[in-house]
Amino acid sequence: MRIGILGSGLMGAKLGTIWARAGHEVIFSYARSEEKLKKLAREARGDARAGTPAEAAGESDVLLLAVHWSRVGDVLKRAGGVTGKIVVSCSLPMNAADTALAVGHTSSGAETLARAIPKARFVSAFNTVPSEVLFDVFQGRGRARRPTLVYCGDDSGSKRIAARLIRDVGFDPVDAGPLRTARYTEPFALLVARLAYEGKGGPELAYRFERFGKRRR
Ligand SMILES: NC(=O)c1ccc[n+]([C@@H]2O[C@H](COP(=O)([O-])OP(=O)(O)OC[C@H]3O[C@@H](n4cnc5c(N)ncnc54)[C@H](OP(=O)(O)O)[C@@H]3O)[C@@H](O)[C@H]2O)c1
Repeated sequence: MRIGILGSGLMGAKLGTIWARAGHEVIFSYARSEEKLKKLAREARGDARAGTPAEAAGESDVLLLAVHWSRVGDVLKRAGGVTGKIVVSCSLPMNAADTALAVGHTSSGAETLARAIPKARFVSAFNTVPSEVLFDVFQGRGRARRPTLVYCGDDSGSKRIAARLIRDVGFDPVDAGPLRTARYTEPFALLVARLAYEGKGGPELAYRFERFGKRRR
């Protein structure tokens, strides 16, 4: 395919390079220097070139949108017409400080419950897997590759207990951070439920997070 990269930063540069190496024709666009785009195209070692957003949009079948949320309007304006184009987007609606979603949840069920029972030490856990997997996960708990379960909370002591309980069921616990992370784990739970109950996989669905890189076990 001919792929136009709108935003050649961490995501766009890497994905464009990978796609060029996988045999696609790639146009890198939208960085602060044209030299960077040319260097990316050279180093991609495939059919890649530097171009303007308008060229990337005009001369491709698929566009990757990979800019900060604050730049989306500008890059689309510079791209010109994207009507009818396939746009694959990895752009997240982050605020200017990149600390929270600018569009999306500003609270969660977990935070609401924690406020309702302030004397409890509250942990959000076990809501990101369908119940149908629990016995299978328990039976397979001795395996080296266990499914993951994310949990979050503000109290480290209760989180240690929750992690122990998660491990005892047969999951690898992944500490997702403070309770406000439930703003993201709760929609993720709905994604898992959607895949489990409405997707083709069926309800026997658990997930696994893998770490790549130096800290890989
Ligand atoms: N990085 C991740 O791991 C990751 C993961 C998932 C989703 N995302 C989302 O993917 C999107 C892209 O993230 P990213 O990390 O790849 O961002 P990034 O590294 O900041 O890349 C953004 C690109 O936009 C260019 N740009 C910014 N301002 C510009 C301007 N005024 N004129 C021209 N070009 C400009 C940057 O130019 P320069 O190259 O010159 O800086 C860069 O090439 C974001 O919405 C992010 O939330 C990122």
